[in-house]
Amino acid sequence: LTGRAVRPRLANSSINRLSDNDAPVHEWYRFVLSFPPHLVRDYVEKFALSPAHRLLDPFCGTGTTLVEAKKLGIPSVGIEANPVAAFASRVKVNWNVDPDGLRQHAVKVARCAARKLRHDGLSDEPLPLFRAAHRPAVELRTLPSELMDLLLDHSISPLPLHKTLTLLDCLRKNGDERFLPHELLAFAKSTVAHASNLHFGPEVGVGKPKPDVPVVSAWLREILSVAEQLADLPRRSATPAAVLLEDARDLLRVIKPHSIDAVITSPPYPNEKDYTRTTRLESVLLGFITAKKQLQDLKKTLVRSNTRGVYKNDDDDQWIVGHPKIQAIAEAIEKKRLAMGKNSGFERLYHRVTKLYFGGMARHLAELREALRPGAKLAYVVGDQASYLQIMIRTGELLGEIAESLGYELVSIDLFRQRLSTATRQFLNEEVVVLRWPG
Ligand SMILES: C[S@@+](CC[C@H](N)C(=O)[O-])C[C@H]1O[C@@H](n2cnc3c(N)ncnc32)[C@H](O)[C@@H]1O
Repeated sequence: LTGRAVRPRLANSSINRLSDNDAPVHEWYRFVLSFPPHLVRDYVEKFALSPAHRLLDPFCGTGTTLVEAKKLGIPSVGIEANPVAAFASRVKVNWNVDPDGLRQHAVKVARCAARKLRHDGLSDEPLPLFRAAHRPAVELRTLPSELMDLLLDHSISPLPLHKTLTLLDCLRKNGDERFLPHELLAFAKSTVAHASNLHFGPEVGVGKPKPDVPVVSAWLREILSVAEQLADLPRRSATPAAVLLEDARDLLRVIKPHSIDAVITSPPYPNEKDYTRTTRLESVLLGFITAKKQLQDLKKTLVRSNTRGVYKNDDDDQWIVGHPKIQAIAEAIEKKRLAMGKNSGFERLYHRVTKLYFGGMARHLAELREALRPGAKLAYVVGDQASYLQIMIRTGELLGEIAESLGYELVSIDLFRQRLSTATRQFLNEEVVVLRWPG
Protein backbone atom coordinates (compact mmCIF):
# COMPACT_ATOMS: atom_id res chain seq x y z
CA LEU A 1 0.00 0.00 0.00
CA THR A 2 1.26 3.48 -0.73
CA GLY A 3 -1.03 5.27 1.68
CA ARG A 4 -4.34 5.24 3.46
CA ALA A 5 -5.25 8.83 4.17
CA VAL A 6 -5.02 11.22 1.25
CA ARG A 7 -8.05 13.31 2.09
CA PRO A 8 -8.79 15.28 5.23
CA ARG A 9 -11.48 13.79 7.42
CA LEU A 10 -14.60 15.86 6.95
CA ALA A 11 -17.90 15.34 8.70
CA ASN A 12 -20.16 13.11 6.60
CA SER A 13 -22.83 15.78 6.36
CA SER A 14 -20.53 18.33 4.74
CA ILE A 15 -18.72 15.93 2.45
CA ASN A 16 -21.90 14.30 1.27
CA ARG A 17 -23.97 17.32 0.31
CA LEU A 18 -24.31 18.25 -3.34
CA SER A 19 -22.75 21.69 -3.71
CA ASP A 20 -24.68 24.34 -5.68
CA ASN A 21 -22.12 24.12 -8.48
CA ASP A 22 -22.63 20.38 -8.72
CA ALA A 23 -26.44 20.49 -8.60
CA PRO A 24 -27.08 20.75 -12.36
CA VAL A 25 -28.02 17.33 -13.78
CA HIS A 26 -26.81 15.40 -10.71
CA GLU A 27 -29.91 16.50 -8.81
CA TRP A 28 -32.38 15.34 -11.47
CA TYR A 29 -32.68 12.03 -9.63
CA ARG A 30 -30.15 10.71 -7.20
CA PHE A 31 -29.63 7.95 -4.64
CA VAL A 32 -29.31 9.17 -1.08
CA LEU A 33 -25.62 8.82 -0.18
CA SER A 34 -24.43 8.47 -3.77
CA PHE A 35 -20.78 9.34 -3.94
CA PRO A 36 -20.25 13.03 -4.62
CA PRO A 37 -19.22 14.39 -8.03
CA HIS A 38 -15.98 15.86 -6.64
CA LEU A 39 -14.74 12.35 -5.91
CA VAL A 40 -15.09 11.51 -9.60
CA ARG A 41 -13.26 14.72 -10.51
CA ASP A 42 -10.43 13.87 -8.09
CA TYR A 43 -9.82 10.49 -9.72
CA VAL A 44 -10.27 11.77 -13.27
CA GLU A 45 -7.44 14.15 -12.45
CA LYS A 46 -5.32 11.56 -10.65
CA PHE A 47 -5.70 9.14 -13.55
CA ALA A 48 -4.91 12.00 -15.99
CA LEU A 49 -7.95 11.14 -18.11
CA SER A 50 -8.56 13.06 -21.32
CA PRO A 51 -11.15 13.00 -24.13
CA ALA A 52 -9.00 10.29 -25.76
CA HIS A 53 -9.84 7.86 -22.94
CA ARG A 54 -12.93 5.78 -22.17
CA LEU A 55 -14.17 5.61 -18.60
CA LEU A 56 -16.40 2.81 -17.31
CA ASP A 57 -18.70 2.74 -14.30
CA PRO A 58 -19.85 -0.90 -14.01
CA PHE A 59 -22.29 -0.09 -11.15
CA CYS A 60 -23.40 3.29 -12.43
CA GLY A 61 -26.59 3.68 -10.35
CA THR A 62 -27.99 7.13 -11.01
CA GLY A 63 -25.00 8.12 -13.12
CA THR A 64 -22.75 10.35 -10.99
CA THR A 65 -19.60 9.14 -12.78
CA LEU A 66 -21.13 9.43 -16.24
CA VAL A 67 -22.60 12.90 -15.71
CA GLU A 68 -19.33 14.16 -14.29
CA ALA A 69 -17.36 12.55 -17.14
CA LYS A 70 -19.63 14.24 -19.66
CA LYS A 71 -19.23 17.59 -17.93
CA LEU A 72 -15.46 17.07 -18.19
CA GLY A 73 -15.58 15.95 -21.84
CA ILE A 74 -14.51 12.36 -21.16
CA PRO A 75 -16.29 9.55 -23.07
CA SER A 76 -17.92 7.09 -20.71
CA VAL A 77 -20.02 3.97 -20.46
CA GLY A 78 -22.14 2.82 -17.54
CA ILE A 79 -23.51 -0.58 -16.64
CA GLU A 80 -26.44 -0.91 -14.29
CA ALA A 81 -28.71 -3.87 -13.58
CA ASN A 82 -31.63 -2.02 -11.96
CA PRO A 83 -33.79 -0.74 -14.85
CA VAL A 84 -35.04 2.43 -13.15
CA ALA A 85 -31.48 3.47 -12.23
CA ALA A 86 -30.27 2.68 -15.77
CA PHE A 87 -33.14 4.81 -17.11
CA ALA A 88 -32.17 7.69 -14.79
CA SER A 89 -28.54 7.56 -15.89
CA ARG A 90 -29.53 7.44 -19.54
CA VAL A 91 -31.74 10.52 -19.20
CA LYS A 92 -29.09 12.38 -17.22
CA VAL A 93 -26.55 12.06 -20.02
CA ASN A 94 -29.02 13.15 -22.70
CA TRP A 95 -28.64 16.91 -22.99
CA ASN A 96 -29.91 17.06 -26.54
CA VAL A 97 -33.32 18.50 -25.66
CA ASP A 98 -34.77 21.87 -26.60
CA PRO A 99 -35.33 23.58 -23.22
CA ASP A 100 -38.08 25.92 -24.52
CA GLY A 101 -39.90 23.04 -26.15
CA LEU A 102 -39.64 21.05 -22.93
CA ARG A 103 -40.99 23.97 -20.87
CA GLN A 104 -43.97 24.48 -23.15
CA HIS A 105 -44.74 20.78 -23.28
CA ALA A 106 -44.49 20.43 -19.49
CA VAL A 107 -46.95 23.29 -18.97
CA LYS A 108 -49.36 21.58 -21.38
CA VAL A 109 -49.10 18.31 -19.41
CA ALA A 110 -49.59 20.13 -16.08
CA ARG A 111 -52.70 21.87 -17.45
CA CYS A 112 -54.08 18.54 -18.64
CA ALA A 113 -53.59 17.05 -15.16
CA ALA A 114 -55.09 20.09 -13.37
CA ARG A 115 -58.13 19.96 -15.69
CA LYS A 116 -58.65 16.26 -15.02
CA LEU A 117 -58.40 16.78 -11.28
CA ARG A 118 -60.96 19.59 -11.44
CA HIS A 119 -63.21 17.33 -13.45
CA ASP A 120 -62.88 14.77 -10.65
CA GLY A 121 -63.94 17.42 -8.11
CA LEU A 122 -60.38 17.81 -6.79
CA SER A 123 -57.67 20.42 -6.85
CA ASP A 124 -53.93 19.92 -6.91
CA GLU A 125 -53.48 22.25 -3.93
CA PRO A 126 -54.72 20.61 -0.72
CA LEU A 127 -57.82 22.30 0.65
CA PRO A 128 -57.57 24.25 3.89
CA LEU A 129 -58.34 22.19 6.97
CA PHE A 130 -61.79 23.68 7.57
CA ARG A 131 -62.84 22.48 4.12
CA ALA A 132 -61.17 19.14 4.52
CA ALA A 133 -64.33 17.20 3.79
CA HIS A 134 -63.07 17.13 0.28
CA ARG A 135 -65.33 14.81 -1.72
CA PRO A 136 -64.04 13.63 -5.06
CA ALA A 137 -66.74 13.25 -7.69
CA VAL A 138 -65.18 9.96 -8.75
CA GLU A 139 -63.75 6.87 -7.18
CA LEU A 140 -60.05 7.51 -6.55
CA ARG A 141 -57.66 5.90 -8.97
CA THR A 142 -55.35 3.30 -7.57
CA LEU A 143 -53.02 0.55 -8.80
CA PRO A 144 -54.08 -3.06 -9.42
CA SER A 145 -53.61 -5.14 -6.28
CA GLU A 146 -50.69 -7.15 -7.73
CA LEU A 147 -48.78 -3.86 -8.20
CA MET A 148 -49.83 -2.50 -4.80
CA ASP A 149 -48.43 -5.70 -3.27
CA LEU A 150 -45.00 -4.85 -4.68
CA LEU A 151 -44.88 -1.51 -2.84
CA LEU A 152 -43.81 -0.93 0.75
CA ASP A 153 -47.08 -0.66 2.72
CA HIS A 154 -48.39 2.93 2.86
CA SER A 155 -45.69 4.19 0.47
CA ILE A 156 -48.19 6.74 -0.80
CA SER A 157 -51.59 7.88 0.53
CA PRO A 158 -54.76 7.43 -1.57
CA LEU A 159 -55.31 11.06 -2.65
CA PRO A 160 -51.66 11.75 -3.64
CA LEU A 161 -51.71 8.41 -5.49
CA HIS A 162 -54.82 9.47 -7.42
CA LYS A 163 -53.16 12.75 -8.39
CA THR A 164 -49.93 10.96 -9.28
CA LEU A 165 -51.73 8.49 -11.56
CA THR A 166 -53.69 11.36 -13.15
CA LEU A 167 -50.42 13.16 -13.89
CA LEU A 168 -48.87 9.98 -15.27
CA ASP A 169 -51.88 9.50 -17.51
CA CYS A 170 -51.45 13.02 -18.92
CA LEU A 171 -47.73 12.43 -19.39
CA ARG A 172 -48.39 9.31 -21.41
CA LYS A 173 -51.34 10.74 -23.37
CA ASN A 174 -49.37 13.82 -24.38
CA GLY A 175 -46.22 11.72 -24.78
CA ASP A 176 -43.70 13.39 -27.06
CA GLU A 177 -40.57 11.30 -27.41
CA ARG A 178 -38.38 14.43 -27.42
CA PHE A 179 -39.47 15.28 -23.88
CA LEU A 180 -41.01 12.20 -22.31
CA PRO A 181 -37.83 10.65 -20.80
CA HIS A 182 -36.93 13.86 -18.93
CA GLU A 183 -40.54 14.36 -17.89
CA LEU A 184 -40.76 10.83 -16.54
CA LEU A 185 -37.50 11.17 -14.62
CA ALA A 186 -38.79 14.39 -13.01
CA PHE A 187 -41.98 12.45 -12.25
CA ALA A 188 -39.94 9.71 -10.51
CA LYS A 189 -38.10 12.28 -8.45
CA SER A 190 -41.09 14.39 -7.47
CA THR A 191 -43.25 11.35 -6.68
CA VAL A 192 -40.69 10.01 -4.23
CA ALA A 193 -39.62 13.38 -2.81
CA HIS A 194 -43.00 15.12 -2.58
CA ALA A 195 -46.01 12.88 -3.17
CA SER A 196 -44.98 9.73 -1.31
CA ASN A 197 -44.70 8.97 2.40
CA LEU A 198 -41.20 7.56 1.92
CA HIS A 199 -38.16 8.89 3.69
CA PHE A 200 -34.50 7.95 3.49
CA GLY A 201 -32.34 7.80 6.50
CA PRO A 202 -30.40 6.57 4.43
CA GLU A 203 -32.46 3.32 4.35
CA VAL A 204 -35.88 3.68 2.79
CA GLY A 205 -38.71 3.78 5.31
CA VAL A 206 -42.32 4.90 5.50
CA GLY A 207 -42.88 8.10 7.42
CA LYS A 208 -45.94 10.01 8.59
CA PRO A 209 -48.71 9.66 6.01
CA LYS A 210 -49.37 12.73 3.90
CA PRO A 211 -53.16 12.71 3.35
CA ASP A 212 -52.94 15.38 0.64
CA VAL A 213 -50.11 17.24 -1.10
CA PRO A 214 -49.68 19.20 -4.33
CA VAL A 215 -48.48 16.72 -6.93
CA VAL A 216 -48.77 18.44 -10.30
CA SER A 217 -47.16 21.71 -9.20
CA ALA A 218 -44.31 19.80 -7.47
CA TRP A 219 -43.62 17.93 -10.71
CA LEU A 220 -43.84 21.09 -12.78
CA ARG A 221 -41.25 22.76 -10.55
CA GLU A 222 -38.87 19.81 -11.02
CA ILE A 223 -39.20 19.66 -14.79
CA LEU A 224 -38.90 23.43 -15.21
CA SER A 225 -35.69 23.28 -13.22
CA VAL A 226 -34.44 20.50 -15.56
CA ALA A 227 -35.30 22.73 -18.54
CA GLU A 228 -33.47 25.67 -16.99
CA GLN A 229 -30.36 23.56 -16.42
CA LEU A 230 -30.52 22.12 -19.95
CA ALA A 231 -30.39 25.66 -21.32
CA ASP A 232 -26.92 26.04 -19.75
CA LEU A 233 -25.55 22.73 -21.02
CA PRO A 234 -23.95 22.10 -24.42
CA ARG A 235 -26.91 20.72 -26.35
CA ARG A 236 -24.90 18.92 -28.97
CA SER A 237 -22.12 17.74 -26.72
CA ALA A 238 -19.69 15.61 -28.68
CA THR A 239 -18.85 13.56 -25.58
CA PRO A 240 -20.48 10.14 -25.81
CA ALA A 241 -21.97 8.50 -22.71
CA ALA A 242 -23.76 5.17 -23.03
CA VAL A 243 -25.76 3.32 -20.39
CA LEU A 244 -26.26 -0.43 -20.66
CA LEU A 245 -28.72 -2.49 -18.66
CA GLU A 246 -26.56 -5.47 -17.75
CA ASP A 247 -25.05 -7.46 -14.91
CA ALA A 248 -21.53 -6.20 -14.17
CA ARG A 249 -20.47 -9.80 -13.54
CA ASP A 250 -21.20 -10.54 -17.21
CA LEU A 251 -20.01 -7.29 -18.69
CA LEU A 252 -18.22 -8.80 -21.69
CA ARG A 253 -21.68 -9.34 -23.16
CA VAL A 254 -21.79 -5.61 -23.81
CA ILE A 255 -18.25 -4.21 -23.50
CA LYS A 256 -15.64 -4.84 -26.18
CA PRO A 257 -12.29 -6.35 -25.15
CA HIS A 258 -9.50 -3.87 -24.39
CA SER A 259 -11.77 -0.85 -24.78
CA ILE A 260 -11.63 0.66 -21.28
CA ASP A 261 -8.92 2.97 -19.91
CA ALA A 262 -10.30 3.62 -16.45
CA VAL A 263 -13.01 2.64 -13.98
CA ILE A 264 -14.50 4.93 -11.35
CA THR A 265 -17.33 3.28 -9.46
CA SER A 266 -19.10 2.65 -6.18
CA PRO A 267 -20.29 -0.95 -6.14
CA PRO A 268 -22.80 -2.20 -3.56
CA TYR A 269 -21.46 -3.00 -0.08
CA PRO A 270 -22.43 -5.96 2.11
CA ASN A 271 -24.77 -3.70 4.08
CA GLU A 272 -28.28 -5.11 3.78
CA LYS A 273 -29.22 -2.34 1.36
CA ASP A 274 -31.75 -3.51 -1.21
CA TYR A 275 -31.62 -1.12 -4.17
CA THR A 276 -34.80 -2.59 -5.63
CA ARG A 277 -36.63 -1.58 -2.41
CA THR A 278 -35.15 1.92 -2.39
CA THR A 279 -36.49 2.46 -5.92
CA ARG A 280 -39.66 0.36 -5.71
CA LEU A 281 -42.36 3.05 -5.92
CA GLU A 282 -41.02 4.72 -9.06
CA SER A 283 -40.08 1.34 -10.59
CA VAL A 284 -43.68 0.15 -10.26
CA LEU A 285 -45.29 3.42 -11.37
CA LEU A 286 -43.09 3.68 -14.45
CA GLY A 287 -43.69 0.05 -15.35
CA PHE A 288 -40.14 -1.20 -14.81
CA ILE A 289 -41.41 -3.82 -12.38
CA THR A 290 -44.79 -5.38 -13.05
CA ALA A 291 -44.73 -8.70 -11.19
CA LYS A 292 -43.11 -10.49 -8.26
CA LYS A 293 -41.32 -12.96 -10.50
CA GLN A 294 -39.83 -10.13 -12.54
CA LEU A 295 -38.60 -8.50 -9.34
CA GLN A 296 -36.96 -11.75 -8.33
CA ASP A 297 -35.31 -12.10 -11.75
CA LEU A 298 -34.00 -8.55 -11.44
CA LYS A 299 -32.58 -9.22 -7.96
CA LYS A 300 -30.72 -12.21 -9.35
CA THR A 301 -28.80 -9.89 -11.68
CA LEU A 302 -27.47 -7.89 -8.71
CA VAL A 303 -24.36 -8.58 -6.65
CA ARG A 304 -25.65 -10.11 -3.44
CA SER A 305 -25.43 -7.44 -0.76
CA ASN A 306 -28.48 -8.13 1.38
CA THR A 307 -30.31 -11.14 2.75
CA ARG A 308 -33.53 -10.23 0.88
CA GLY A 309 -31.77 -11.10 -2.35
CA VAL A 310 -30.15 -14.48 -1.71
CA TYR A 311 -31.31 -17.53 -3.66
CA LYS A 312 -30.91 -21.28 -3.29
CA ASN A 313 -28.80 -21.78 -6.41
CA ASP A 314 -26.49 -18.83 -5.80
CA ASP A 315 -22.89 -19.91 -6.20
CA ASP A 316 -20.73 -16.79 -6.45
CA ASP A 317 -19.13 -17.92 -3.17
CA GLN A 318 -17.06 -20.42 -5.16
CA TRP A 319 -14.98 -17.44 -6.35
CA ILE A 320 -13.56 -16.85 -2.88
CA VAL A 321 -13.10 -20.38 -1.54
CA GLY A 322 -9.35 -19.77 -1.54
CA HIS A 323 -9.61 -16.55 0.46
CA PRO A 324 -9.07 -17.44 4.14
CA LYS A 325 -9.94 -14.00 5.57
CA ILE A 326 -13.39 -13.96 3.99
CA GLN A 327 -13.99 -17.55 5.04
CA ALA A 328 -12.95 -16.60 8.59
CA ILE A 329 -15.32 -13.59 8.68
CA ALA A 330 -18.21 -15.72 7.44
CA GLU A 331 -17.43 -18.36 10.07
CA ALA A 332 -17.21 -15.72 12.82
CA ILE A 333 -20.62 -14.34 11.80
CA GLU A 334 -22.20 -17.79 11.86
CA LYS A 335 -20.54 -18.71 15.18
CA LYS A 336 -21.79 -15.50 16.78
CA ARG A 337 -25.30 -16.08 15.45
CA LEU A 338 -25.38 -19.54 16.98
CA ALA A 339 -23.95 -18.26 20.28
CA MET A 340 -26.58 -15.53 20.40
CA GLY A 341 -29.37 -17.95 19.49
CA LYS A 342 -30.45 -15.78 16.54
CA ASN A 343 -32.56 -17.95 14.32
CA SER A 344 -34.58 -15.80 11.96
CA GLY A 345 -34.44 -16.62 8.27
CA PHE A 346 -32.38 -13.56 7.42
CA GLU A 347 -29.94 -13.94 10.32
CA ARG A 348 -29.19 -17.45 9.12
CA LEU A 349 -28.20 -15.91 5.76
CA TYR A 350 -25.71 -13.35 7.09
CA HIS A 351 -22.62 -15.52 6.67
CA ARG A 352 -23.78 -16.68 3.27
CA VAL A 353 -24.45 -13.19 1.89
CA THR A 354 -20.97 -12.12 3.02
CA LYS A 355 -19.36 -14.87 0.95
CA LEU A 356 -21.72 -14.29 -1.99
CA TYR A 357 -20.95 -10.57 -1.94
CA PHE A 358 -17.18 -10.94 -2.14
CA GLY A 359 -17.57 -13.83 -4.57
CA GLY A 360 -19.74 -11.64 -6.81
CA MET A 361 -17.20 -8.83 -6.72
CA ALA A 362 -14.42 -11.32 -7.53
CA ARG A 363 -16.46 -12.57 -10.48
CA HIS A 364 -16.94 -9.00 -11.69
CA LEU A 365 -13.23 -8.16 -11.35
CA ALA A 366 -12.26 -11.36 -13.15
CA GLU A 367 -14.62 -10.64 -16.05
CA LEU A 368 -13.51 -7.01 -16.23
CA ARG A 369 -9.86 -7.87 -16.97
CA GLU A 370 -10.56 -8.68 -20.61
CA ALA A 371 -12.33 -5.32 -21.13
CA LEU A 372 -9.37 -3.26 -19.86
CA ARG A 373 -6.50 -1.80 -21.80
CA PRO A 374 -3.07 -2.57 -20.30
CA GLY A 375 -2.23 0.11 -17.75
CA ALA A 376 -5.92 0.85 -17.02
CA LYS A 377 -6.55 2.56 -13.67
CA LEU A 378 -9.44 1.76 -11.41
CA ALA A 379 -11.09 3.37 -8.37
CA TYR A 380 -13.63 1.39 -6.30
CA VAL A 381 -15.37 3.34 -3.54
CA VAL A 382 -16.47 0.93 -0.82
CA GLY A 383 -17.38 1.05 2.84
CA ASP A 384 -16.52 -1.09 5.86
CA GLN A 385 -19.53 -2.76 7.41
CA ALA A 386 -20.45 -4.22 10.75
CA SER A 387 -24.09 -4.87 9.86
CA TYR A 388 -23.93 -8.61 10.45
CA LEU A 389 -23.94 -9.16 14.21
CA GLN A 390 -21.30 -6.45 14.54
CA ILE A 391 -18.54 -8.52 12.99
CA MET A 392 -16.29 -6.00 11.27
CA ILE A 393 -15.94 -6.38 7.51
CA ARG A 394 -13.09 -4.25 6.15
CA THR A 395 -14.50 -4.15 2.64
CA GLY A 396 -11.76 -2.09 0.96
CA GLU A 397 -8.95 -4.19 2.33
CA LEU A 398 -10.64 -7.45 1.31
CA LEU A 399 -11.54 -6.16 -2.14
CA GLY A 400 -7.92 -5.06 -2.64
CA GLU A 401 -6.72 -8.56 -1.75
CA ILE A 402 -9.21 -10.20 -4.11
CA ALA A 403 -8.10 -7.86 -6.90
CA GLU A 404 -4.43 -8.71 -6.29
CA SER A 405 -5.20 -12.42 -6.42
CA LEU A 406 -6.74 -11.81 -9.86
CA GLY A 407 -3.61 -10.11 -11.19
CA TYR A 408 -4.44 -6.44 -10.52
CA GLU A 409 -1.88 -4.21 -8.82
CA LEU A 410 -3.10 -2.59 -5.62
CA VAL A 411 -1.93 1.02 -5.90
CA SER A 412 -3.45 2.49 -2.73
CA ILE A 413 -6.41 2.47 -0.43
CA ASP A 414 -7.40 6.11 0.08
CA LEU A 415 -9.58 7.10 2.98
CA PHE A 416 -12.60 9.02 1.75
CA ARG A 417 -14.76 9.41 4.85
CA GLN A 418 -15.26 7.81 8.23
CA ARG A 419 -18.04 7.27 10.68
CA LEU A 420 -18.02 5.86 14.15
CA SER A 421 -20.08 2.72 14.53
CA THR A 422 -22.09 3.21 17.71
CA ALA A 423 -22.49 -0.55 18.05
CA THR A 424 -18.81 -1.54 17.85
CA ARG A 425 -17.17 1.80 18.87
CA GLN A 426 -14.87 1.27 15.88
CA PHE A 427 -14.43 3.53 12.90
CA LEU A 428 -16.07 2.41 9.69
CA ASN A 429 -14.06 3.65 6.75
CA GLU A 430 -15.32 4.55 3.35
CA GLU A 431 -12.35 4.08 1.09
CA VAL A 432 -11.27 4.23 -2.50
CA VAL A 433 -9.46 1.07 -3.57
CA VAL A 434 -7.13 2.17 -6.36
CA LEU A 435 -5.98 -0.55 -8.75
CA ARG A 436 -3.96 -0.86 -11.92
CA TRP A 437 -4.37 -3.50 -14.58
CA PRO A 438 -0.92 -4.40 -15.88
CA GLY A 439 -2.29 -6.22 -18.94
C1 LIG B 1 -23.64 2.23 -4.58
S1 LIG B 1 -24.75 2.15 -5.92
C2 LIG B 1 -24.03 3.18 -7.12
C3 LIG B 1 -24.38 4.63 -6.94
C4 LIG B 1 -23.83 5.48 -8.05
N1 LIG B 1 -22.45 5.84 -7.85
C5 LIG B 1 -24.69 6.71 -8.29
O1 LIG B 1 -24.15 7.72 -8.72
O2 LIG B 1 -25.90 6.67 -8.09
C6 LIG B 1 -24.51 0.55 -6.54
C7 LIG B 1 -25.33 0.23 -7.78
O3 LIG B 1 -24.92 -1.05 -8.27
C8 LIG B 1 -26.04 -1.65 -8.87
N2 LIG B 1 -25.74 -3.07 -9.01
C9 LIG B 1 -25.72 -4.04 -8.06
N3 LIG B 1 -25.34 -5.21 -8.57
C10 LIG B 1 -25.11 -4.99 -9.89
C11 LIG B 1 -24.66 -5.83 -10.95
N4 LIG B 1 -24.39 -7.12 -10.76
N5 LIG B 1 -24.50 -5.27 -12.16
C12 LIG B 1 -24.75 -3.98 -12.37
N6 LIG B 1 -25.20 -3.13 -11.41
C13 LIG B 1 -25.36 -3.65 -10.18
C14 LIG B 1 -27.17 -1.30 -7.93
O4 LIG B 1 -28.42 -1.44 -8.56
C15 LIG B 1 -26.83 0.15 -7.57
O5 LIG B 1 -27.47 1.03 -8.44
